[in-house]
Amino acid sequence: MSKSSNPPAKGLSAGTVNYGDRDFALFLRRAFIKGAGLSDEDLAKPIVGIVNTGSDFNPCHGNAPQLIEAVKRGVMMQGALPVVFPTISLHESFAAPTSLYLRNLMAMDTEEMIKAQPMDAVVLIGGCDKTTPAQVMGALSAGKPFVVLPTGPMLSSRWRGERVGACTDCRRLWADFRAGRLTQTQIDDANNHLVPSVGTCSVMGTASTMACVVEAMGLTVPGAASAPAVSADRLRIAERSGYAAARLARGDVAMPAFTKKQLHNALTTLLAIGGSTNALVHMAAMIGRVGMALDPNEFNTMADKTPVLVDLKPGGEGYMPDFHEAGGLVRVLAELKDLFHLDIDTVFGDTLNDRLSGLEAPSEAVVIRQRNNPIYPSGGLRWLSGNLAPQGAVIKPVAATQKLLEHTGRAVVFNGLEDMARRIDDPDLDVKADDVLVLRGIGPKGAGMPEAGLIPIPKKLAAQGLRDMVRISDGRMSGTAYGTIVLHISPEAAEGGPLSLVRDGDHIHLSVAQASLQLLVDEATLAQRRSEQAHTQLPTLAQTRGYGRLHMQEVLQAEQGCDFRFLRQPEAN
Ligand code: FES
Repeated sequence: MSKSSNPPAKGLSAGTVNYGDRDFALFLRRAFIKGAGLSDEDLAKPIVGIVNTGSDFNPCHGNAPQLIEAVKRGVMMQGALPVVFPTISLHESFAAPTSLYLRNLMAMDTEEMIKAQPMDAVVLIGGCDKTTPAQVMGALSAGKPFVVLPTGPMLSSRWRGERVGACTDCRRLWADFRAGRLTQTQIDDANNHLVPSVGTCSVMGTASTMACVVEAMGLTVPGAASAPAVSADRLRIAERSGYAAARLARGDVAMPAFTKKQLHNALTTLLAIGGSTNALVHMAAMIGRVGMALDPNEFNTMADKTPVLVDLKPGGEGYMPDFHEAGGLVRVLAELKDLFHLDIDTVFGDTLNDRLSGLEAPSEAVVIRQRNNPIYPSGGLRWLSGNLAPQGAVIKPVAATQKLLEHTGRAVVFNGLEDMARRIDDPDLDVKADDVLVLRGIGPKGAGMPEAGLIPIPKKLAAQGLRDMVRISDGRMSGTAYGTIVLHISPEAAEGGPLSLVRDGDHIHLSVAQASLQLLVDEATLAQRRSEQAHTQLPTLAQTRGYGRLHMQEVLQAEQGCDFRFLRQPEAN
């Protein structure tokens, strides 16, 4: 190794460990990595990090080994050196108490490992709901060029003659089982068919929504949102992601700046695809890393003029492989050209506009409608406010029962998940079909904001055939779920928000047309209840050590993405 007094802070030379002798630090680093069989010639190349979130606990990332090989191929074909490294991996069903609670830990892990290790660009392989936002949050804060590579959706399957896929059908069949419409044997058999391959959920849930969002922000190569996890297309996308990252690492392509145009594209995509409510939380967190914040009025104005074109479950009929076959996200961009900023640069070195050229005319595919024949003319999501949600709440009207979108009902209140589990199926519970089920204590501090906002229909009403009611909470809902569900009520009850003041029998008014959620109780009564609130015991996570303690001290509310206060850029607070 030739000794240099001023080596460029690129490639292997970047960010040396602090021994007080930089040249010795680099000498050691070279010696160790040569133990892996690398040569000085290899080590002179630009370095592309590849984040490996493969885990036996995360089948949504079960194709990570194949993707890594394809990314490496792309990196090497462009004359750069691929270096794979791990970060933590989060699967919805294996991350207790909730994956959102751990999302910020993954974002911190991603940020610190990108900053600490010498790489000139990085490919982020992720996909399960919280992983894409965590990786983008971390990479934006790390400040190095990056390419997002979603693992891709799983296949769909068939059970008893009908098409099924995770996880809308998981919830639907479970609801049928609860209502006595399926036997134990049948639900056990269904369990074998709901997840027929590795990959992310096969509907337009949070994972696929976030994949579409990042593609519309120009953070992926073309088509990255929708190719199935086990397809040849997915491997080609992985190879191209490596290729793109190598060009970013070499400086042949500049990392696109993150501006309001990207945010606009992200929100328009969310609305046009009828995407997951969770995406709003994640977007607020992602843009908070670059000093931006969501504007509720702007969002509702966009919702008023953005048609919903994508007919996938949970709100519609199809599955993600159908979306890919129908052309994927670029087809949506082509239908709504004037609503997107198609001139933005992407990590691939092209613009979104470039991706529209050569697009074939739409076929008979019904899962991506033409603009003159939308699923809904507008209003895929609605940001609500009112005296029950002073800092906001959200509803997905396209997944709701339309006649319940204007509704006044009597509150039936549950204090946390244990209380709900204990009483929801009690035959003596005083509940009627037009009541409003209220679940509080499941916000970010209450319970790590679990996807429990889809409060089950009380068994005695479900047995009568009731499938939907107005349900409100400070929690979240799976992107694969459906119903007339108001979520993310902020401030949460555990922070003393007005939700904590609701009593059984109060009346609540939901008006999606007015974007309003009101507790119909006079202010004097609410003030009296507020003064008594110290005596109300609401559950909280009550974490007193380690990461949990950090979470309790620093987590913000939903409209700020549930990020940690100290991780956001100050302008966003
Ligand atoms: Fe991983 Fe649905 S559980 S994407």
